[in-house]
Amino acid sequence: MSVIMATATSLAVGSIRSRRSTSGVTRFKMAVRSSSISVAVAPMLTKLQQDCATPLPVLRSVADSMSADMRAGLAVDGGSDLKMILSYVDSLPTGDEKGLFYALDLGGTNFRVLKVQLGGKDERVISTESEQLSIPQELMSATSEELFDFIASVLENFAQKGGNFNLPPGRKGEIGFTFSFPVKQTSIDSGILIKWTKGFAVSGTAGKDVVACLNEAMDRKGIDMRVSALVNDAVATLAGARYWDDDVMVAVILGTGTNACYVERMDAIPKLQGDFSPSRRTIVNLEWGAFRKGLPLTVFDRDMDAASINPGEQANSKFNLSMLTPISLIFEKTISGMYLGEIARRALMYMAEEGSLFGKSVPEKLSLPFVLRTPDLSAMQQDTTDDLQTVGSVLYDVAGVESDLNSRKIVLEVCNTFVKRAGRLAGAGIVGILQKIEEDTKGAIFGKRTVVAMDGGLYERYSQYRRYLKEAVAELIVPETSRNIVIEHSKDGSGIGAALLAATNSKYERNL
Ligand code: BGC
Repeated sequence: MSVIMATATSLAVGSIRSRRSTSGVTRFKMAVRSSSISVAVAPMLTKLQQDCATPLPVLRSVADSMSADMRAGLAVDGGSDLKMILSYVDSLPTGDEKGLFYALDLGGTNFRVLKVQLGGKDERVISTESEQLSIPQELMSATSEELFDFIASVLENFAQKGGNFNLPPGRKGEIGFTFSFPVKQTSIDSGILIKWTKGFAVSGTAGKDVVACLNEAMDRKGIDMRVSALVNDAVATLAGARYWDDDVMVAVILGTGTNACYVERMDAIPKLQGDFSPSRRTIVNLEWGAFRKGLPLTVFDRDMDAASINPGEQANSKFNLSMLTPISLIFEKTISGMYLGEIARRALMYMAEEGSLFGKSVPEKLSLPFVLRTPDLSAMQQDTTDDLQTVGSVLYDVAGVESDLNSRKIVLEVCNTFVKRAGRLAGAGIVGILQKIEEDTKGAIFGKRTVVAMDGGLYERYSQYRRYLKEAVAELIVPETSRNIVIEHSKDGSGIGAALLAATNSKYERNL
């Protein structure tokens, strides 16, 4: 590690903390204890803050590059880091949708199954029943059949429970399948998995149609249902939010992973072949996790990327479909929930080893990848006690770290540095999208109320993250215009959105 210089100078003097035994941690380098933590660590922190800084010119350049990459990806497949995937969602929900529809939502750590009864313009969403399960860890690296058999059995149990609403006799259950991984969509109800993200490493799915995988699993169980819409979670969120508000133009997911999509004019998509739909508009899925231009990165990001199951250089090298070019996912790794805790852990580990952040010994547990999670960062940042008790107990519970007030303050600074960078970069990305639409159609975005629908646990539950994101948007857009931009949490837009898209694409002529 060369980026941050350690400056520990004098030998250990007494610590105000109780010390943990160092037995069992001999494989760790014993750092020289400086006379004060801050003497050794302060320059490291300063360097980290400099490396992560996102002043206005950096934000501006990220927003501009995002717009430029969007154009390049719309021109031709493989034209940029952004895949600009055509969703085949050409007609958005109108409010007229009626009947009972299912939604399956496989996206991150959780899997959800929903049943939604739609009642048309007057009654809208009459009822929603749902069940949520954590994806068992072992299934994240199982075989494709095992994963899809699990999904099918959860669906089967759920559907058998009955409930207040049922399908009319003779009618098959129709499913909106929210599948939140990069998929090359081949129609509204089929698409090929480009690669797994978010820690999934299921064998035998990449390069296959995920709807076919689900259909085969349903056949194995004798479930008589069909997928009528395959959608990304960002796309489902946009559809769900648009159902309530015609001004929604963009949707962004900030959760375990991250992504964005928006409503585009078909004549602004050079790579689009075939007839335009009557609406002449479609939703485009950026897969913006793969964006990488002008991001302020640190050695910790690079090390984490290199150690990940999908490092930039190697991703997808075994597939040769034209869409399947390497994905570095650096934007995702810099701004999304799966990674923020891990980047912070790496920085803290470095400070512990090279700057004696936690005293003489380096806490063994802190060396475990992903032991510090983004919700831990959020919990620590909500701490309002004078002696930062929550920070202390999170550090102890999660990483076995005994800390004093000084080290807790530094830990908070480290968390804040990465969260600030993440929120501000996400904000710049959103402005990049708005800018692109505005450049094509003057006034379509900035001249009127425009809503960006947000979803995902990171956005929902990390207040500092939200604040940094909104601050960056406000810095980048002039005040008269930014008043028109509404960044709104669309709770559970994605579940209802998928059911709505199942209805919009129902094979039955009239929804019941
Ligand atoms: C996936 C996207 C998804 C996003 C948010 C990313 O890892 O590649 O398809 O929309 O996570 O769930």
